[in-house]
Amino acid sequence: MTLRTSLFLAGACAALAAGASGAQDKATLDKGGQAASAKAEKTLQAMQTEEKTILTHGIMPLKLTPDAPEPPAVAIPGAGYIPGIPRLGVPALFETDASLGVSYVFGVRKDGATALPSGLAQAATWNPALIEEGGRMIGSETRAKGFNVLLAGGVNLMRDPRNGRNFEYLGEDPLLAGTLAGHAIRGIQSNHIISTIKHFALNGQETGRKVVDSKISAANAHESDLLAFKIGIEIGDPGSVMCAYNKVNGHSACDNDWLLNKVLKQDWGYKGFVMSDWGAVPSLGAALNGLDQQSGEQLDKEVFFADKLAAAAKGDPAYAKRLDDMNRRILWAIYDNGLDANPAKPGGAIDFKTHGDIAEQVARQGIVLLRNERDVLPLAASARRIAVIGGYANSGVLSGAGSSQVQAEGGPAVYIPAGNGDENSPFIAESYHSSVPLKALREAAPQAEIHYRNGRYIAEAVAQAKKSDVAIVFATQWTSEGFDVPDMSLPNGQDDLIAAVAAVNPNTIVVLETGGPVMMPWLGSTAAVIEAWYPGARGAEAIAAVLTGKVNPSGKLPITFPAGKEQLPRAEVDGLDSTEPSFFGMPDMKGQPLVADYDIEGANVGYRWNAVKGQKALFPFGYGLSYTRFAASGLKTDGTRASARMTNTGKREGATVAQLYLVSRGGKPVQRLLGFQRVELTAGQSKPVAMTIDQRLLADWQDGNWTVVPGDYGFALGEDAEHLGPVMTVRLKGKTWQD
Ligand code: GLC
Repeated sequence: MTLRTSLFLAGACAALAAGASGAQDKATLDKGGQAASAKAEKTLQAMQTEEKTILTHGIMPLKLTPDAPEPPAVAIPGAGYIPGIPRLGVPALFETDASLGVSYVFGVRKDGATALPSGLAQAATWNPALIEEGGRMIGSETRAKGFNVLLAGGVNLMRDPRNGRNFEYLGEDPLLAGTLAGHAIRGIQSNHIISTIKHFALNGQETGRKVVDSKISAANAHESDLLAFKIGIEIGDPGSVMCAYNKVNGHSACDNDWLLNKVLKQDWGYKGFVMSDWGAVPSLGAALNGLDQQSGEQLDKEVFFADKLAAAAKGDPAYAKRLDDMNRRILWAIYDNGLDANPAKPGGAIDFKTHGDIAEQVARQGIVLLRNERDVLPLAASARRIAVIGGYANSGVLSGAGSSQVQAEGGPAVYIPAGNGDENSPFIAESYHSSVPLKALREAAPQAEIHYRNGRYIAEAVAQAKKSDVAIVFATQWTSEGFDVPDMSLPNGQDDLIAAVAAVNPNTIVVLETGGPVMMPWLGSTAAVIEAWYPGARGAEAIAAVLTGKVNPSGKLPITFPAGKEQLPRAEVDGLDSTEPSFFGMPDMKGQPLVADYDIEGANVGYRWNAVKGQKALFPFGYGLSYTRFAASGLKTDGTRASARMTNTGKREGATVAQLYLVSRGGKPVQRLLGFQRVELTAGQSKPVAMTIDQRLLADWQDGNWTVVPGDYGFALGEDAEHLGPVMTVRLKGKTWQD
């Protein structure tokens, strides 16, 4: 363990002891304090009229089509470039994607970066301190490459398990997702760069993402997706919020007075700026509805926020006032994060070894052990002949596609074009990081004779499995920004492959590399299953460490694995039956409206929905096995704070997550995660856990107020959302407060 790692682990424990279960850490709010606001005001007053539309729009500095103009030489190829105002010492903004590291943009910069595991893998760690360390790492690489804005903080809740971008986000629960997003953002911005939080809001599917209308009541939104954003903003204090492509209740999210002016800026008092998603600006009027910056302007039908905005400001006091506020907000974010005083410069040194260690640590803690019959894992030394089958396990580990795609220098180990030939196709490829499971397993189990079969021919794989002590099948589900998967089945006949191998080898282990939950028709015939997600730059090493027992898996599902699509609020993805969806989610809807009715489930997303419907998941939210055993005891709570003890009752060290749930209110079943704490325990060791309960999770939101209704509230610790301990009932007086 390197010094750095041990230091940050110590930090992790300290952070957790403070009950990092979503409690708002006031110290981070408005880091620059009044100084940033005062400085922004001073600069604004010094601005000349023609300078006021410099910061309000920018290009995507890439030559997207052969006849497109060359981007300015000063711009770094990436996601965005906004010139600064040198006369006033205002730096240019150099923007790159995204939540998993510095994006590769299909190799145009010919450099590489460290790929964190997917958002779901990060969320499966339930470890805010570690996610903050990951954010610090990718933020440092952002800066070392000369960028000063990282378009990270993807926090949209998983409302549909088939959403192509679930892999980027942090799961289905507002407390877990919001807390981890906030810590990631805090880590990123510790490098004196701006992070976003995105995509604001209710961006729950990729099919038709630029036309779909997310319908939801204010109360349901505030008790779910908006709460995730609010917690993320409270903890991370992001300089910018990126508004989404979709509509919310009939209005584009980037042109939405309720969402941007009322909720974000007035009710929440957000001081930073709202940037659009790329090609998400419908009109100049969006400026009056809360949008502060037009991003990737060449993707919109017009550049609204340059001369048109200047002209409007000249003739209309409302636009003039807005234009000042737009600049004030962008300047505040620049000063609050010290971009001017700490200019990022390209060519900075990157310690890829240490950064790889951090990515591996996240992967190790994010792997979830779903099944382990007869304790077939960890692999016994007696497993002399091991078959490794499928999933390009001889070459790499899978990653998700789209703007968040990160690759090491030299690019992907495997690159399978998956686009439909249009101009967006370079973005759409099934690509694998060059971290090789077969190699990692051979290094971790030198005593074994390990043979690989690629799984294309089932008979060949079966023949190898037959003569092996253990068969490890790697199964992949590729997902991407821009479109959803049509169902939750593993593609390319992998279900048949797994079933055939398991039929001939009782020690069949399945390693899933998926972008979301999948069906497992073969589950009963396998010995063990681990979910490794998209495990990042050192994913293979982490998978091998878990399979061989060097690491005791401690991941807990941040999402529900449904038992079938009939359990979902919407059995089919809205709009999927349209013509072939293009990458940018623009299927030909033939003028038909596309609506995602989120009021069906309301705030009851995922496990909450199952609790309301009395449904049992294939694997529930919060689920994850270990190579040891744990017991929770001594729950005490007054509804504001909670404490308990966690004990390792097994024979080896391990880590688990104490999960506190609300399970009933006024005698009616309602389930909400109220707090969590990851805890590491040696064999036989017992430790106290303590959590602060975010009162909004006990409350209803109504017309700008949170209300905890008086009555009896049932609390329980859970190994996961379905395996709950004794219920402790507390009578609460009730209270109401402003958001
Ligand atoms: C995209 C994504 C957004 C990304 C932006 C810049 O289409 O929706 O997450 O940051 O473009 O690449």
